[in-house]
Amino acid sequence: MIRLEGVSFRYRAATEPALSEVTCHIRPGELVGLLGRSGSGRSTLASTVNGTIPHLVRGDLRGRISIAGQDIQGLRPRDLADRVGFLFQDFEAQLFSTNVALEVAFGPENLGVPRAEIARRVDRCLRLVRLEVLRHKAPAGLSGGQKQRLALASVLALEPQVLVLDEPTSDLDPAGRRDLWEAIRRLREERALTLLIIDPETDELGWADRLIVLDRGRVALSGTPAELWSEADRLEALGVKGFTLARLAAALGLAGRWQDADAAAAAIRAAGWRVAGGTADRLRRADAERADGEALLEVEDLTHRYPDGTEALAGVSCAVRGGEFVAILGQNGSGKTTLVKHFNGILTPTAGDIRLSGQSLRGQSLARLSRHVGLVFQN
Ligand SMILES: Nc1ncnc2c1ncn2[C@@H]1O[C@H](COP(=O)(O)OP(=O)(O)O)[C@@H](O)[C@H]1O
Ligand SMILES: [Mg+2]
Repeated sequence: MIRLEGVSFRYRAATEPALSEVTCHIRPGELVGLLGRSGSGRSTLASTVNGTIPHLVRGDLRGRISIAGQDIQGLRPRDLADRVGFLFQDFEAQLFSTNVALEVAFGPENLGVPRAEIARRVDRCLRLVRLEVLRHKAPAGLSGGQKQRLALASVLALEPQVLVLDEPTSDLDPAGRRDLWEAIRRLREERALTLLIIDPETDELGWADRLIVLDRGRVALSGTPAELWSEADRLEALGVKGFTLARLAAALGLAGRWQDADAAAAAIRAAGWRVAGGTADRLRRADAERADGEALLEVEDLTHRYPDGTEALAGVSCAVRGGEFVAILGQNGSGKTTLVKHFNGILTPTAGDIRLSGQSLRGQSLARLSRHVGLVFQN
């Protein structure tokens, strides 16, 4: 279905090639996971399949690429839109309509698909990603996971034979990820679709038919997940995480291949592994001792309301002690970033207070605070 033969590409102005002599063949209906460290050429490869390279992003492209037996040289992304669907990480950029159903209808409308058929496709695609009930909502008001599923539905409405997903879940929280993977699974059950998926989480690609690992623009390794299951060392040398359960098995000196954590846990217990007596107690005691230490950062009844009225924090209280390593967890939009932005004064509380070594942060300048609190952002 997708055939690359000796494909090389160098971005204009780059000295090194981003792809070197890549040859691979993805069969109809196959799900292939593309792995590799950041910068290994995964997105570049994906962009050659829908014509973004060389038509929108210029450079020196060599070799042959064909989709369903047709050489795509000379075909622009627009010409390929009904054959190759493309979904990427930055899904916000892919959405622009005022309502969910219109968003899904937009693509087929542009291709001149008849009205009745568009209506059928909109229904089918929204059902597939479980967004039927939100069909009249504005895309801007959806959660991250819902937006990503909407972007998927919009791509599917073009009924492509090939779907390319470039890190589709990396901006999603665990619930959003689960829902998107579920939609992709249902999609595969409903119709034959050839899928090329880039995802940094090897574990999430455990159900792929085949995995291809790129390294500096070359195919460095490929095989079924079962074949790569015990290749944790080779994968890690290529900057790719091995399967978590396989790494665990190797670390415990166990043989075997498990589909999920429950099966692994059963095998580990069967092999006689236990949490050593006293270890859990020791950890609990250390926690209790630390809890008695002095608080370095104290948050008291913190509320934050953004100018548009959104209440992002509603009475949060917590304390961080010296030397502690604290993780803040929560779904997308739960207020994690809003909370930490109060720690160095980027945001000021609407109500409540924050104290650093006993001193209120209210009224202190950002410049002064930044000497005590460092903050590294997501982007
Ligand atoms: N638009 C661009 N212009 C120049 N070089 C680029 C561009 N995009 C990517 N590259 C380079 O091409 C190589 C492959 O990048 P990319 O395909 O984005 O890797 P991956 O998706 O695996 O992280 C890297 O060395 C990267 O710096
Ligand atoms: Mg990439």
